[in-house]
Amino acid sequence: MRLIPLKTAEQVSQWAARHIVERINAFAPTEERPFVLGLPTGSTPLATYRELIKLYQAGEISFKHVVTFNMDEYVGLPPEHSQSYHYFMYHNFFNHIDIQMKNINILNGCTTDHDAECRRYEEKIKSYGKINLFIGGVGVDGHIAFNEPASSLASRTRIKTLTEDTLIANSRFFNNDVTKVPKYALTIGVATLLDAEEVMLLVTGHNKALALQAGVEGSVNHFWTISALQMHRHAIFVCDEPATQEL
Ligand code: GLP
Repeated sequence: MRLIPLKTAEQVSQWAARHIVERINAFAPTEERPFVLGLPTGSTPLATYRELIKLYQAGEISFKHVVTFNMDEYVGLPPEHSQSYHYFMYHNFFNHIDIQMKNINILNGCTTDHDAECRRYEEKIKSYGKINLFIGGVGVDGHIAFNEPASSLASRTRIKTLTEDTLIANSRFFNNDVTKVPKYALTIGVATLLDAEEVMLLVTGHNKALALQAGVEGSVNHFWTISALQMHRHAIFVCDEPATQEL
């Protein structure tokens, strides 16, 4: 595991964006051999998306031959809903870069057959061999994607019931009304994440300090899904100073 301790959240986003650009450019992707990138939502990666857009506009990177897989999506929110992860991704990233629509993969939370949708997603990832680089954030309780505490560390893409803590944390995006937050989500599993060639987590803010401590210093356990990254050969935690306060 590599820990990159930086001073500010801004430095985290700059470091992360540079790292993504370096990885894609070194891979030299083509139509036949695209770079496969796993992507998160949440407030933490927003600044990284802004940095990536800047680097794209400066001509330092093209996303033409990049295939993306998003980590998760709420069940029941249509893509045009302002809090759906579909909307988030197009609005904050995809609409501003040269990615091809056919290369964007996001779980369909409005399907009637969740199991089939999750199987389809896993198979689509497998059809590319593996995800080259998976970017993630982390919940205050250490969850990655929507792998809530007590998720199996061998889990695959599936439907999850969100915990009360997550509903409360995410209610800030739903007019602080916890009853408006969807109760379920489709999410990649911990094992889906661990299959990636490299995983980079962005951890900023003092409210993530306990999760970072559990991920770095705690034992591997299913109550802090972040700790599963200890079993990955190429995991990078990029953190700001407030997030490292408990280390
Ligand atoms: C949600 C997402 C996670 C994200 C987490 C933290 O639960 N499903 O992928 O990491 O929120 O979000 P934030 O970065 O806003 O703290």
